[in-house]
This record gives sequence, C-alpha cells and structure tokens, in this order.
Amino acid sequence: MNEIYEKLTRCYESVKDRIRFTPRVALVLGSGLGDYGNEIDVEATLPYNEINGFPISTVPGHKGQFIFGHVGDVPVVCMQGRVHYYEGYPISDVVLPTRLMKMMGAEILFLTNASGGINTDFKAGDFMLITDHISCFAPNPLIGQNIEELGVRFPDMSKVYDENLCDKIRASASELNIRLVEGIYAQLTGPSFESPAEIRMLKSLGADAVGMSTVVEAIAANHCGMKICGISCVCNLAAGLSANPLTHEEVQTAANEAAPLFKKLVTESICRF
Ligand code: HPA
Repeated sequence: MNEIYEKLTRCYESVKDRIRFTPRVALVLGSGLGDYGNEIDVEATLPYNEINGFPISTVPGHKGQFIFGHVGDVPVVCMQGRVHYYEGYPISDVVLPTRLMKMMGAEILFLTNASGGINTDFKAGDFMLITDHISCFAPNPLIGQNIEELGVRFPDMSKVYDENLCDKIRASASELNIRLVEGIYAQLTGPSFESPAEIRMLKSLGADAVGMSTVVEAIAANHCGMKICGISCVCNLAAGLSANPLTHEEVQTAANEAAPLFKKLVTESICRF
C-alpha cells in the first residue's frame, strides 16, 4: 500500500476506535477562530497528540485538537489548529487531517484562515468568500504516486469552491448584515511575509488576498470528492500597501477582533448547509 495512505489509514483506525461520531461538515479554524469550540454543542474532543503519527501545529495561538459536536442540527468535526507547510512537515502531512476528516464521514470542508488583503477595496477586518485560488507557489499535495483509494490522478479543478455552499454563505452574511467581499486567495509557503514586489506580482496575477494555508487542503479535499467552501479574514493590508511592517501579533490581534462576527457568520452558514 502507498506509504501516505498507510499512515492515513493508521490514523483513521486510532480515531475510529475512540470516537463514535459521524460528521457531515469538517471545519478548519484559522487564526482568531481558535475558541469557536464555544459555539459547538460538544460531544467529544480528541487531542492531536493522541493520534499516532498525526502532525502537531507549532504556531503560537493554534491549539491542537479535533472537536466533535453539533452546530445547530449539523454534525461537525472541527480542527482547532492546523499544520502549515512552513512548519517543516511534508506536504502529505499538511493535508493528512483533511483526508482523515473525509474518512470520518465529512462531505463538506469549510476552510477558514487569516490573510493579507491585496485588493485595495478591502479593509482589515473584512471577510472574503474564497471563490477560487492560486496554488502554484505552494507544492501540490497530490505529487507522488496517486492514491487511487482517494481519487483520480488528474483531478479537475474548474469548480473547487462549491457554488451552492457559497450562496449559503452569501445569504448568511446578508441575513446578519455582515460585509462579505469575494475574491481569489493565493497561498504562498511563508513563513516570511511577502515582499512588496511579490504582492504587486500576485495582484497582477489576479489574487485578492494572500496567506500561508488553505489551498493545499482544498486541493486534497477536491481530490477525494469533498464539497469545499472557505472564508478568509483579511487581517492586514498586504506588504507595501500600508506604511507598517507586518507582524504575526498584528495579524492575531486583528483576527481576535474579527472573531465574534466571524463566528456568527460561520455558525449561520453551517446551519444552512
Ligand atoms: N501574508 C501572508 N499571510 C498572512 C498575511 C499576509 O499579509 N496576513 C495574515 N496571514
């Protein structure tokens, strides 16, 4: 068996024995949404370090556990903390949790993250519905022998972000009177923030926001047949668009300030899925 699939199966076996819960939605919490667990009617939690071989996040502000429970009537598994490629994990480990949540039964992957705004109409604190992405600056997680058990060798990527889910997020934002912008998210590897020249390049390529996560997870989820949607919290203007140097603390502060509204938007959206 493929080594990557073998590891995934091992993780699944250890989760399956401990958790009797079938999620429909898999929610990945980005910076600032770390305490979203309070919005969930929790049935069980599972720390990542209790899953044999599971990658553990080293980023300050990222907890490391799965939460299982209900948002409204919807059964969800929620990732409180994700791993990033810049932490040094192989890209197959970065997407292992996504694939694992699919094996748990999740049909929908709801991705959230913090980003830098490239589109000059955006303000810090805006929420951006991700309508498409630019992946070519991060390694493709499907490189290597194809895992036939999960999906095809050459997956179509023409509609990664499910239009029906996007409509439900739009309707939720409108109902809650929350400003929701839309755009294209580019993932770079990080961990350094971009240079102003890189931001100008990304802008000319059509990117509206930039970050260090999400796209590789979307590629893996699309490969294994999940429906995908995502919202990015624009936490700062990207490099060169404001006079200030960028810091992780600034990003985290902005994400924390946006968190109450972000949580409302995520909850309302999930209830409509
Ligand atoms: N660049 C990359 N990742 C980010 C940024 C940024 O400006 N802000 C939040 N995450």
